[in-house]
Amino acid sequence: ARVGPRRVAAWRRGRTRVTEAERRAALEAIAAEVRACTRCRLHDGRTRAVPGEGHPSTEVVFVGEGPGLNEDRQGRPFVGRAGDLLVRLLASIGWRREDVFITNIVKCRPPENRDPEPDEIAACDPYLRRQLEALDPALVVTLGRHSMARFMPGTTISRSHGTLRPADPATGASSALVFAMYHPAAALRTPAIEEASYADIGRVPAALADARALRSGAPATGPTSARPAAPAPRPEAAPQPAAVLPAAAVPAAPPPPTDPDPAPPASDQLTLFR
Ligand code: URA
Ligand code: SF4
Repeated sequence: ARVGPRRVAAWRRGRTRVTEAERRAALEAIAAEVRACTRCRLHDGRTRAVPGEGHPSTEVVFVGEGPGLNEDRQGRPFVGRAGDLLVRLLASIGWRREDVFITNIVKCRPPENRDPEPDEIAACDPYLRRQLEALDPALVVTLGRHSMARFMPGTTISRSHGTLRPADPATGASSALVFAMYHPAAALRTPAIEEASYADIGRVPAALADARALRSGAPATGPTSARPAAPAPRPEAAPQPAAVLPAAAVPAAPPPPTDPDPAPPASDQLTLFR
């Protein structure tokens, strides 16, 4: 038995007493502000701002880096080649992009697709925080190192991809787990990263099951395979991956001597929920 979108929405309403219409209105208000925003220099070069989109009652939010050329033209996130790969990754676990919410760290395209600057990320941060407050997701999936750095400070993408830890409530996700993945654009460039990305997304349904368990007060080490973990699966969805606790399945390796700021050991990663 799997959970469809309506039952997820009912579960959400029961827990939070916020209606889907209220979530949708809150998200649309944020999007309207983003489209008119001039808080940082990135507004100069944009064609269209890209607030993000998805199911207002979803449990899962994907956070990328920033719009590229196609996103800037269409005003929608992940609609170019990286977006196509994201859709294939989601399909590999039986999910569709409209079942989740997809947004970015910065909402306007950096010129020539350069990395967003720290002051641009800081200027745009309140929009992402407010989106997360409105969505109240169980699971945040970061795509790439800029997004990871905001939710998992003090580690590196090569160490953190495929791992799960609690979200700092200051991010706006007040009761969520964060799961890190490589950026799909990196996967398009490097076959080994693409392979790792398919392995990582295979752990996302179990991560969602863990996040649900934590939100409902159940132990994090429960039998996750017994829990449906799809925000709105298609009937022909692929079978669930084996039940693994991602944080345990990808144990923190001893830090290499050159690592300036090693991640905490996996056993310390759930302390926010104790
Ligand atoms: N890359 C991103 O990080 N975000 C998008 O929306 C598209 C490509
Ligand atoms: Fe505003 Fe964010 Fe766009 Fe900067 S990137 S102009 S802060 S919406």
